[in-house]
Amino acid sequence: MPNYSTATITQRHHNAIVDWQKKNFPELAILERRWDDHFKGQTPFQLVAKVGEAKTDTIDYGQYAGRRKFEHAKDMVGNMFFSSRDIIRAQCSTELGSIQQHRLTLDRAISDKGKFAVLRIMAEELRHAYQMFWVLDNDPSWKKPGLGDVAKQTIEELLSMELGGHVLDAFNIDFNDFLDNVTYATVIDLVGKYQLEMQQVFSYAPMARSMGPMLQEEAFHLGSGRTLLKEIGQMAARDEGDYSVEDMQRALNLWFPRGLEMFGNEHGGETAITFGFKDKTNGVAQAEYIEEVKGVVGNVNIALIQERNASFSREEARAVLDRVEKSGDPRQGVKPENLLRVPDVKFFRKRGAEDLIFQPYDVNGNLLVDSGSPISPDRYLTYLSTVLPPRFIGSREYDKYVGQMREFFSQN
Ligand SMILES: [Fe+2]
Ligand SMILES: [Fe+2]
Repeated sequence: MPNYSTATITQRHHNAIVDWQKKNFPELAILERRWDDHFKGQTPFQLVAKVGEAKTDTIDYGQYAGRRKFEHAKDMVGNMFFSSRDIIRAQCSTELGSIQQHRLTLDRAISDKGKFAVLRIMAEELRHAYQMFWVLDNDPSWKKPGLGDVAKQTIEELLSMELGGHVLDAFNIDFNDFLDNVTYATVIDLVGKYQLEMQQVFSYAPMARSMGPMLQEEAFHLGSGRTLLKEIGQMAARDEGDYSVEDMQRALNLWFPRGLEMFGNEHGGETAITFGFKDKTNGVAQAEYIEEVKGVVGNVNIALIQERNASFSREEARAVLDRVEKSGDPRQGVKPENLLRVPDVKFFRKRGAEDLIFQPYDVNGNLLVDSGSPISPDRYLTYLSTVLPPRFIGSREYDKYVGQMREFFSQN
């Protein structure tokens, strides 16, 4: 028995999201037709909201701790109303953006299994967008005098967002190859898991009730990303397939900094706790995330080592990995350049802690200097071109980064 009930949204908004799907995700029909070939025994996809139980009826954190969770948006006063709307809007934007991104390279999947995993991820992200629409649409009190129907305006704005216009940077980057689909499901969906987990305490009840069912689906996204990343790594170790370890490293260098920034400024996040929206500050959640990414990348490295050295047990491979990482030198035939490394938190940052943004840090977290001063923005761009995917260089989001960096240095 599922631990949630289902709900739909008003016909007008339901039709609007179905129209969006037909334009942005027509491949949903393929998934529906072939669901049993890949996911037999699992409940087929349905475009509905899933309403679970909130863990508690009361607000657990912040200035309203101990009171009942808010059932109606209108009861959230002052900044709280728009802050919660902004979180719902950002969440929904990530869901819709990710579908637009995955679709770009869906046809370059490494296998049928990989393709259907991504199709299912896309379908579930569509349902997550639907869920956020339900949060807005199900409560007639998302209105403000003089500002009209905030729910309707937000839904319409979300449906009109294209790649490049989404709320968070990670959801504006065009995918270039299937390695992006896979790295993204591993690194970016993982941030999603942290946000959903934190938002289980959300002081606005409909949001809190939405988190459990979304988290259950997110587990498939993370698992698919990790499995496929490992498979790509094993192929790379055998010199098979389209991607090398270097390609994998560059993809990780591209996505990980944007994942870090999805937490917001690492020194902030207190307001979300004060309003009872989340149970952790940005920095605390981000630190846990970094450790988890390191664990995932460690597992890929172990698979890479075992693929090249069939005689190594998992424990032996782990021991060799530790030694190579500590010394930076080859050990027992395993070279550092044949392994993946999680980039330093200071690398390629454009948001967050002020002492990091746009500063020329390399992937290891060293400030690149020339005769004692940090290298120029132009020289940093040259460095970036050696560590980021070649096709990202010169793309729309790359140009946006360059523009923002130049503006930053003209003002500082
Ligand atoms: Fe999602
Ligand atoms: Fe996801």
